[in-house]
Amino acid sequence: MEYQSHNSGLNLNSILPTVAHVAVKAGDFVKKELLSFHHDQVKIKDFNSLVSYVDIEAEKIIVSGLRNIIPNADFLTEENTIALSGESTYTWVIDPLDGTTNFIHSLPFFGVSIALKEKEDFVLGVVYDVMHDVLFKAARSYGATANGKEIFVSETDNLENSVLATGFPYNAFDHMEKYLNLFRALFQNTRGIRRFGSAALDLCYVANGSFGGFFEYGLNPWDVGAGIVIVREAGGQVTDFSGSNNMISDKTILATNGKIHNVLLASIRRHFELNM
Ligand code: IPD
Ligand code: CA
Ligand code: CA
Repeated sequence: MEYQSHNSGLNLNSILPTVAHVAVKAGDFVKKELLSFHHDQVKIKDFNSLVSYVDIEAEKIIVSGLRNIIPNADFLTEENTIALSGESTYTWVIDPLDGTTNFIHSLPFFGVSIALKEKEDFVLGVVYDVMHDVLFKAARSYGATANGKEIFVSETDNLENSVLATGFPYNAFDHMEKYLNLFRALFQNTRGIRRFGSAALDLCYVANGSFGGFFEYGLNPWDVGAGIVIVREAGGQVTDFSGSNNMISDKTILATNGKIHNVLLASIRRHFELNM
């Protein structure tokens, strides 16, 4: 297969189907395991941070499926089944199961998330919504799709007609008061706020126009890498909480349809000065 191109040295669009195939293979494994999963198979990584053999085996499926696509590409994975050398131009950024707590509690909202980073930029994203069998794909400059159909962010230009998504902090409570103040303001000015429990899916549902926006802090690159590409390619805007492009180092993310970005950013900044 021809992987070279004018753009980034790689023909991103030509590798997308292979990456998608790998995501679905891992997702099918996760779905199969759900039927026989028992609570005693859960390990506690940290307070409220859970993992099981399912996350780890799904990650191994993904790593072995991606290995030959780009020779010498690096891997940054949540479950650390492969070491990161930090020396390659390209890095696969993988969350084998985003929404582990949902999976463990049989809540049908979890996904497989695979991103490709070129130096510091995310350039390709695939997220598989396992239980709804929806495959989100995007490559830089090629648009975003859900099950092969092009997707776009919503047209809404005000908060009043928007449903938002967020993630509540579950093991870092330092900013709780600020978060509650922000909610108070947003409850009264939106159609509602959802907490699905999978940041990767939240971002995809911004990309397809269901959510007007999504915000959260404390996330890792594997939670958001793929979703960032998918939202941007669907016409949306993604920044950190200060409006810059430092979502990974700042560990804050605001993704919207673009039209409500500034108003939401202003609200976040008013109620949620991080001073981190
Ligand atoms: C979690 C989900 C969740 C977010 C957490 C993440 P995990 O990922 O994305 O929505 O609120 O911060 O850690 O642990 O299920 O892969
Ligand atoms: Ca995650
Ligand atoms: Ca995970």
